[in-house]
Amino acid sequence: MKYFELSNGVKIPAIGFGTYKAAEGDTADVIRTALKVGYRYFDSASFYQTEGYIAKAIKDSGIDRKEVVIATKAWKTEMGYENVKKAFQQSLERLDTDYIDLYLIHWPRRSPDDREWKEIDVETWRAMEELYRAGKIRAIGLSNFLPHHIENLLENCEITPMLNQLEIHPGNMQEAAVRYCHEKGIFVQAYRPIGRGQLFDDVLLKELAEKYQVSVPKLCLRYEYQRGFATIPKASKKEKMLDNLNIFDFEISGTDMYQIDTMPPLGWSGEHPDRERVYFDKEYNNDEKVHKIQLKSELTRLCFMD
Ligand SMILES: NC(=O)c1ccc[n+]([C@@H]2O[C@H](COP(=O)([O-])OP(=O)(O)OC[C@H]3O[C@@H](n4cnc5c(N)ncnc54)[C@H](OP(=O)(O)O)[C@@H]3O)[C@@H](O)[C@H]2O)c1
Repeated sequence: MKYFELSNGVKIPAIGFGTYKAAEGDTADVIRTALKVGYRYFDSASFYQTEGYIAKAIKDSGIDRKEVVIATKAWKTEMGYENVKKAFQQSLERLDTDYIDLYLIHWPRRSPDDREWKEIDVETWRAMEELYRAGKIRAIGLSNFLPHHIENLLENCEITPMLNQLEIHPGNMQEAAVRYCHEKGIFVQAYRPIGRGQLFDDVLLKELAEKYQVSVPKLCLRYEYQRGFATIPKASKKEKMLDNLNIFDFEISGTDMYQIDTMPPLGWSGEHPDRERVYFDKEYNNDEKVHKIQLKSELTRLCFMD
């Protein structure tokens, strides 16, 4: 396994395991299998309800807790100084541990019309700085924060976030946010790194996958690694978990990297921290409420529709 180093010296595996929506069915089994095949970084969140499964899987495996990097996040309802301290304690209990490796603020705003987001973010971050200084968290960070959200923290807080987890994959590289983070020394981790399956039929990615004799997911993860991002793919089957973990046996050429860098927008989840969610899936089209949101976001929707 390759590692990346955060600004405070904490090392994290280049490939971790995502646990969102791993809560249905055999979550404990899925996480146990991921541990068995070699994953040593687990991405969770109080919102995912997977913290307990991670704790159990680590305990059952007999692997030393210190060998596993656990990341979890404070949800929108857990923000604010007192709230986040309480939420952190609850995460510790569910994870059955006395420290957390990475603790992140899940979203910068509780909703698009949250007018107090700046104050709430600062209060939340101050509490996290205290927990970090007390040695209860090895690294503190963010998720879904764009430059204007981070600027607010840098102006009003003392510790620069060590990591920002963003939706990043071919077709959605968030170049401006990434450039800003890198300028400030904030490491970027890519979530939804294989576009939750929505990239698999892309002509360019298929062509390149064939050229390198790998799967499209493996091509995406290798591309992200070469761009300097750690990733946290989720998979429920052992074969896919292994495929995603073994990306270090080939290299994408500079020309092919450019082709992926410049491909058209694809596979965006529709989630933006300052906007209502945009829905693309056909299954949602009959829902009147969602239809209105689609119309409100017409411009964005047209840009990303295929
Ligand atoms: N911070 C945030 O706001 C945020 C938001 C979203 C996600 N995340 C994190 O990022 C993690 C990953 O994102 P994600 O789960 O949304 O999407 P993803 O990892 O991009 O894609 C997961 C999907 O791809 C399939 N898959 C995985 N490896 C494959 C392979 N080698 N071949 C074929 N199919 C493969 C999986 O199938 P099966 O599962 O059926 O095997 C699953 O349907 C989440 O679990 C979560 O931890 C964070």
